[in-house]
Amino acid sequence: MKKILITGGAGFIGSHVVRRFVNSYPQYEIVNLDKLTYAGNLANLTDIESKPNYRFLKADITDAAEINELFQREQFDAVIHLAAESHVDRSIADPTAFVMTNVIGTVNLLNAAREYWKGNYDSKRFYHVSTDEVYGALGETGMFTETTAYDPHSPYSASKASSDHFVRAYHDTYGLDVVISNCSNNYGSHHFPEKLIPLAINNIKNNRPVPVYGKGENVRDWLWVVDHARAIDVIFHQAKTGETYNIGGHNEWKNIDLIQLLCKIMDKKLGREAGTSAKLITFVTDRAGHDLRYAIDSTKLQEKLNWVPSLQFEEGLEKTVDWYLENEKWLSDVTSGNYQAYYETQYHGR
Ligand code: NAD
Ligand code: DAU
Repeated sequence: MKKILITGGAGFIGSHVVRRFVNSYPQYEIVNLDKLTYAGNLANLTDIESKPNYRFLKADITDAAEINELFQREQFDAVIHLAAESHVDRSIADPTAFVMTNVIGTVNLLNAAREYWKGNYDSKRFYHVSTDEVYGALGETGMFTETTAYDPHSPYSASKASSDHFVRAYHDTYGLDVVISNCSNNYGSHHFPEKLIPLAINNIKNNRPVPVYGKGENVRDWLWVVDHARAIDVIFHQAKTGETYNIGGHNEWKNIDLIQLLCKIMDKKLGREAGTSAKLITFVTDRAGHDLRYAIDSTKLQEKLNWVPSLQFEEGLEKTVDWYLENEKWLSDVTSGNYQAYYETQYHGR
């Protein structure tokens, strides 16, 4: 049986990837390795945690000895690496944590894979899940392609660019079988409410101000997280070694337009008079070094691997709002910090 290590599987995107692989591939053994930082929440995976082909391991990828020991013991056939510090604002406040996890942690995993696989990469694969932010910022026009030069601006994107370079270096130097994908902004269920969309949903629900940085003119290209997980599945199974794929929804929104749309949906769902939620929009000091615009050209993925996004944004955003309104406990546990007890209560001694 193929044993796949998925790192960061208790986070937002990682939990969708774990769910997809556990449900779609009963012939694979899926091991979810996560440190359970503030962003890791095992309650994201309650629907699959009892499946026979799933296992959780609490570990920190910055601990090289622990990671090496784990590879020797578990004998993984492939790695899908998502564990990271992922929030740009936190990277501005504390860049070192991003270097440690995103750069050193990735290099630790690469070393362990190289050491354990010993140059025999038959049916072995190291998949690095990365971001479009490595390409920097666009002006009013243009799109990022797989050949766009790297030009990261935030400590977060600099750390992800660095880890991408290390992954490619291990392919070029040691022949490690690697693939990388660079994806645009994800949205959907289980998204930690520090990021724009879940933060705004939570604040609107609780009648709190919705902070919009600067004038809200920045543009992001939004993709439903389930479509990202499907793209990772397709790339993991079909990409040639050493390849990079861009993943995006061809779905650009100015932040202020997105928030206005969200306010309309929330008014409808909460039975509020039209225009009520929009009154909560509050323009605040801009993010330092705020990238103006991201837009992904995913032609390569669409043409070579037949992947296309499945959901229109308006429909996806409404589905997302429904999920947050229907999962009050998930949201209140996350905002109160209760979610961090889930590991101790459900997993202790397993
Ligand atoms: P997230 O912050 O929701 O989850 C990150 C997970 O990594 C958490 O479960 C956390 O506990 C775990 N983790 C952090 N440090 C760790 C460590 N030292 N050891 C082990 N586990 C650790 O992040 P996300 O939004 O789900 O992003 C997942 C990946 O996808 C990241 O690599 C990110 O760069 C990339 N990405 C995210 C987006 C997006 O829109 N969110 C878009 C493109 C790419
Ligand atoms: O592009 C992919 C990236 O998308 C991922 O690599 C990152 O891990 C992920 O966090 C996301 O980064 P962003 O910085 O684009 O996401 P965030 O939700 O933090 O912000 C989206 C936009 O909204 C951005 O232009 C900043 C703005 N913003 C954000 C917050 C949290 C606000 O205006 N107000 C806010 O309160």
